[in-house]
Order: sequence, then structure tokens, then C-alpha cells
Amino acid sequence: MNICITGALGHIGSALIRRLSLPDVDRIYLLDNFLTQRYASLFDLPDGLRYRFCEMDILSGDAAAVIRDSDVLIHLAAVTNAEASFHNARLVEDVNNKGLENVAKICAQHGCALIFPSSTSVYGVQEGEVDESCPPSDLKPQSPYAESKLYGERLLQSLGEKKGLRYVVFRLGTIFGYSAGMRFHTAVNKFIWQASLGENVTVWKTALHQKRPYCDLADCIEAIQYAIKDNVFDGEIYNILTTNLTVNDIIETIKRYVPGLKVQFVDSPIMNQLSYQVSTKKSLARGFRYNGDLDSSISEVIQKLRNMNTFEQKKNL
Ligand SMILES: NC(=O)c1ccc[n+]([C@@H]2O[C@H](COP(=O)([O-])OP(=O)(O)OC[C@H]3O[C@@H](n4cnc5c(N)ncnc54)[C@H](O)[C@@H]3O)[C@@H](O)[C@H]2O)c1
Repeated sequence: MNICITGALGHIGSALIRRLSLPDVDRIYLLDNFLTQRYASLFDLPDGLRYRFCEMDILSGDAAAVIRDSDVLIHLAAVTNAEASFHNARLVEDVNNKGLENVAKICAQHGCALIFPSSTSVYGVQEGEVDESCPPSDLKPQSPYAESKLYGERLLQSLGEKKGLRYVVFRLGTIFGYSAGMRFHTAVNKFIWQASLGENVTVWKTALHQKRPYCDLADCIEAIQYAIKDNVFDGEIYNILTTNLTVNDIIETIKRYVPGLKVQFVDSPIMNQLSYQVSTKKSLARGFRYNGDLDSSISEVIQKLRNMNTFEQKKNL
């Protein structure tokens, strides 16, 4: 089996390409255009796997040759910063919508199965517990990024019906956990970064006690591998997450390693008043399993950053 991973150098991809453990994998194509400059994700890849790195844009016609030679496409390439997406909606539309359309059509044409990481942010403004049966009219994405994920889900549904595309959609909770190409713009990682710098953690004014879904990177990788091993290309949507947490839960966990951490409240265009949790009943029933752990993931990243702030800075510096 040959596998193609787009966005292979990013937060999820850089861990996935090191931890892939599937029987019968021949070639692993790593496709990335360095939008986020993660060259370091290519250092020290494990021996014994047959990788081919392709510096390539998912919008380019060249992607067809790579996807034609693949049995499974794990489509991680995207513009991923939800807050920043208000200012670069055009780029989000190009990469996330048109880029997906380009690769999904090639997959449909050549019989390559596709894993698409959507996001639990498509649920948007909800209250209580939500699951995959949430009617489309109740999905309320709150940013151009979240809208692009909903667009992607619908596009794949249509290509599944009209062109026989084999695919599965994961609505991923916000990822936490160390990787070589780690990024720090999402909740848990951003708080760890600020705490490690000795700064206050900045929390949206409404967010401290609101529950939201989070996913350990290890659980995300396990879910991707399980979908391939168990051939879960059934055109379904699955919520994939480790746990639902409040920001306060996360900050209290970071405080175990950074005592004295302080919170500063800020505004954000994505703030709302509601608290919601995302159910994993459907994915558990399909055989997905979640063993991730917030505490050990936080402690690992804090340990990695332990020497980035080791002297007291003068006030005027
Ligand atoms: N990290 C999360 O919390 C999270 C949560 C839900 C869903 N997801 C989704 O999972 C996927 C991977 O997320 P991530 O956190 O690894 O993202 P990331 O931003 O860390 O990595 C994305 C990668 O895609 C590459 N890329 C961007 N545009 C490209 C293009 N036109 N052609 C080729 N490569 C391109 C970037 O260079 C980068 O290496 C994304 O679709 C994201 O929306 C992530």
C-alpha cells in the first residue's frame, strides 16, 4: 500500500510521519509547500520506511502524479489558524476549499481513499452535548476556517455520491501534544507557550468555564491508522477527541508544572457565551479508542521548552 500525506510537515503530520505503523506500507509520499516553513519536520525521520518528500502545492496539477500512485490520501494540508482566518479568508478559501477539491477529485478518479480532518469547530454555537447527527441547519461555524471545514464535508459527500469517492471525515477536537512541527496558535499549546515564557496566559473573556473538545495528538494518529487498518472509508463523519474540558481545567493542569501562572482576559472575534461538549459515542461504537492524557502531554511540552526562559529579564529590555 502507498500512502500520501499532504501537509505532512505540520503539527499533526510531523508526528504521524514518525509514528506510522501499518502493515504492508510500501511508499509514503510527504507533500507540503512550506507555507509554515516546517523544514525541521524532515530531520531524523526513522530508518526503514520508504519516504519521498515532494515540495508541492495541493493546488498544483503536479499533485495528480503522486495521488495516482497512492492508495490512501491523508489530507492534512490547510490554512489552520481560526482566529487569523478573519484576515486571510481568501487564502483559506483557496487552500482549504479549492485545494481539497483538487485532491479529492483526483482521489475519486484514481480510486484513492481519502481521510479528511474536519474540526469540531463546525458545531459553532451550541449548548449541552452535540453529536454527528446535529442537523446541518444547527451547524454554526464561527470563522472562515470553520466554514471551510463544513464546505469540505459537503464537497466530499457530493463527490462520494456522484463520483464514488471513498472517504471518511474526522471532526477533530483541538489537538494538544508534542510534535517536531508543533504549532502554538491553539488553546492548550498557546497556554503552554505563554506559561513557558513566564507570561500571563491570555484567555477569551467568556471562555474560562466553557467546555470544549480536545484531542491528544496520539489519539488523532491512532484514529488515522485505525481508519486505514479497518478500512473505515464509509463516507461517514466521526467526532474524534480525547475529552471535553474547560479552559480552567487546562490552566489548572499547567499550574502543576508552572505554579504562580496568571490569567489575563482578552477579546476575540470567536467568543460566545455557550458551553458545549462533543460526544464520541459513534466513533467508539465503530472501534476508535482514546487513551490520551492531558497531564502527561502538557508536562512533555513544558519539559521540551524548559530552557527557553532561564534568567530574569531587565524591565527596559
Ligand atoms: N491542530 C488542530 O488543533 C486541528 C484541529 C482540528 C482539525 N485540524 C485539521 O488537521 C489538519 C492538519 O492540522 P495541523 O495542526 O497539522 O496544521 P498545520 O498548520 O500545523 O500544518 C498544515 C501543513 O499544511 C501545509 N500547507 C498549507 N498550505 C499548503 C498547500 N497549499 N500545499 C501544500 N501544503 C500546504 C503547511 O505548510 C503545513 O505544514 C488541518 O486540516 C487542520 O485544519 C487540526
